[in-house]
Amino acid sequence: MSDKLIIFDTTLRDGEQSPGASMTKDEKVRIAKVLEKMHVDVIEAGFAIASVGDFEAVKAVANTIKDSTICSLARALDKDIDRAGEALKGANSARIHTFIATSDIHMKMKLHMTPDQVVEQAVRSVKRARQYTNDVEFSPEDAGRSDEDFLCRIIEATIAAGATTINIPDTVGYNLPHQFGATIKSLIERVPNSDQAIFSAHCHNDLGLAVANSLSAVLNGARQVECTINGLGERAGNTALEEVVMAVRTRQDEFDCDTDIDTTHILSASRLVSSVTGFIVQPNKAIVGANAFAHEAGIHQDGVLKHRETYEIMRAEDVGWNANKLVLGKHSGRNAFKARLIELGVEFDSEESLNDAFRRFKELADKKHEIFDEDLQALVSETQIVESEHIKFVSLKVISETGEKNSATVTLNIDGEEKSMTTETSGSVDATFSAINQLLNMQVNLQLYSVSNVTQGTDALGEVSVRLEHEGRIINGQGTDTDIISASAKAYIHALNKVLAATNRAHPQI
Ligand code: KIV
Ligand code: ZN
Repeated sequence: MSDKLIIFDTTLRDGEQSPGASMTKDEKVRIAKVLEKMHVDVIEAGFAIASVGDFEAVKAVANTIKDSTICSLARALDKDIDRAGEALKGANSARIHTFIATSDIHMKMKLHMTPDQVVEQAVRSVKRARQYTNDVEFSPEDAGRSDEDFLCRIIEATIAAGATTINIPDTVGYNLPHQFGATIKSLIERVPNSDQAIFSAHCHNDLGLAVANSLSAVLNGARQVECTINGLGERAGNTALEEVVMAVRTRQDEFDCDTDIDTTHILSASRLVSSVTGFIVQPNKAIVGANAFAHEAGIHQDGVLKHRETYEIMRAEDVGWNANKLVLGKHSGRNAFKARLIELGVEFDSEESLNDAFRRFKELADKKHEIFDEDLQALVSETQIVESEHIKFVSLKVISETGEKNSATVTLNIDGEEKSMTTETSGSVDATFSAINQLLNMQVNLQLYSVSNVTQGTDALGEVSVRLEHEGRIINGQGTDTDIISASAKAYIHALNKVLAATNRAHPQI
């Protein structure tokens, strides 16, 4: 019988550390529900001590999710561990993940601590975490650049103190696959009590090697992989969950382990994370990119039609493609709408928000005849966003004529009061954004603007993502509408609302 490979998803923690990818409590709960449905074993829901908002988000995920273990990150500090323990109180199954840096450069330049002090603090933290739960993970941060003898020493000590998972992070994405695999193998062989813990890989993608390094770790004895949906994460990101899971599943001839992941939810998880964070998935991205299963060249199409396996190593439907069947239409009632959303893992806190979402659904169904799951996801994202906003989009009128200036009249509801502004410039989007700027008098720099379609066809919802810079902070916003200028206005307003709501949060690794 093959071993179990534990999937530890850190989209909501390490993924969220990506500039501009911060998520609200409700967004985290929605993503966590999809991860639970996929049978993710461990969901790292956040860094509880970072801010009140982060604490509340970890707590909400812990109180909602029943089938996955919920984890909070904590530096090797008493106050962090206590905060993590507190946030996880309601979890069916809770894990505390504590870490401290072990490379010479981090110990000297960041921690200003001696190796002895680092071991002592790591041991103390693991013991403290064990007072809250029997499931404690320890990570020697920057293990990829740490001295192996020192790693053996700290790992042995933390296992003896009660750590049940030892996670080996290649924090800066420096390792090569053969080297990272060899490190895992050597640590398992050399640490005398290594049989009392699961060894885990946590790889960053700075050299584009995160998935390769994680797979090499698995081939050398790691039985947990830490990963994120779409490979979301700081800088070049983390190991992509979908790629590791499908590599192990597809190449069972090479791996003596497998995950419990229900892969048919992969695509919807990818789309949800992309729409919540505004991080678009590149078309040629493995497994979840729009072209991942598209056979353009005539010769390939011919081969696939004759015998699928000539050019396909996986079935598109196994990861959720072709699942966007028509689900609802203009005549669907409120109960059908509610039932479909429950199947998608969306529940409403109140009748009022259900009614609001249903009203938006009816408006959409008037404009667009076929409503797919992706449309419903986008609609729910927007309903949840709008509910919590101070500035609300009311209406937009755009006049555009070739060779003439374009004019945009935007009406916003700002804390209950409606205000309008008209501006004229050379483009409709520019005129819309400048009318909004004048209404709100806010200083922001637009760093990115992109439009994509939620489903196929010219009547599809357009999804706009914007990225703003405000006082050194990066903030993303998303908006959807069948009209892309209105979607642009909504995305811009979403980001500006986040600018207004921004609070200070601690970064775990600085
Ligand atoms: O990359 C890293 O080292 C981390 C640790 C906190 C595990 O994310
Ligand atoms: Zn990391």
